[in-house]
Amino acid sequence: MEQQDKPIGIFDSGVGGISVLRAAVRELPHEDFCYFGDSANAPYGPRSTAEVQRLSEAVVTHLLTKGVKAIVIACNTATSAAATLLRQKYPTLPIIGIEPAVKPAVERHPGQQVVVMATPLTLREEKFTRLAKRYRQQADIVPLAAPDLVEFVEAGATDTPAVHAYLHKLLAPYATTAAAVVLGCTHFPFVRAAIAQEVRPGAPIIDGGAGTARELRRQLEAKQLLNPQQEAGRVVFENSTATSAMIQLSERLFNEKND
Ligand code: DGL
Repeated sequence: MEQQDKPIGIFDSGVGGISVLRAAVRELPHEDFCYFGDSANAPYGPRSTAEVQRLSEAVVTHLLTKGVKAIVIACNTATSAAATLLRQKYPTLPIIGIEPAVKPAVERHPGQQVVVMATPLTLREEKFTRLAKRYRQQADIVPLAAPDLVEFVEAGATDTPAVHAYLHKLLAPYATTAAAVVLGCTHFPFVRAAIAQEVRPGAPIIDGGAGTARELRRQLEAKQLLNPQQEAGRVVFENSTATSAMIQLSERLFNEKND
């Protein structure tokens, strides 16, 4: 098989990266994707950097057995903790990461409050600290850890009373002041509608999925790795829990409108 005909490997700590997969399929409809959700080890957010590096390396090793031509780290936490290491280990493999979409939020709302929701590890890592530092003169950037949201989404709870109660409490201090909310965790687009109810009507809720998908296209184009097939690509879901329930949830979220 030619390199360009091979699938793209995409992974997350669980089902969250399916929000990025959706954007990638929209951007590159003729590509085949192998999606791996590491739900048996989710959430990654409360873990140490070394643990997330070890788990991410194990997933990439697995995806390489599928013959993937590129890797998308559809997880802000794993990108922060492991992207550099993975690029060192596989210098010729295109590895595309994701980071909180702070730049577009600040450009659209200079001088205003921008709330960045993410996992504790993402907010603690140097990647985010540098990002926040770069933009802190231009806007009031408020990091907001929302660890429980990952577990709600992993359980398929995207619109339950418990999710609404959790978000109400978490976002109450910013309900009237946030000009924009950045979703710095790929699980969060699945609760976008519930988040929208807790902030000013019309305040944009911005995720990094589309930007990551565009970067994937750019890297495949640059390396002449775009799939030439004319028909629609295939998407295959795998999950480390090896349960049909997680595959069903993956398919549900893939088909759910959240953007
Ligand atoms: N979806 C991952 C991210 O983007 C999440 C998290 C986790 O497992 O804590 O950060």
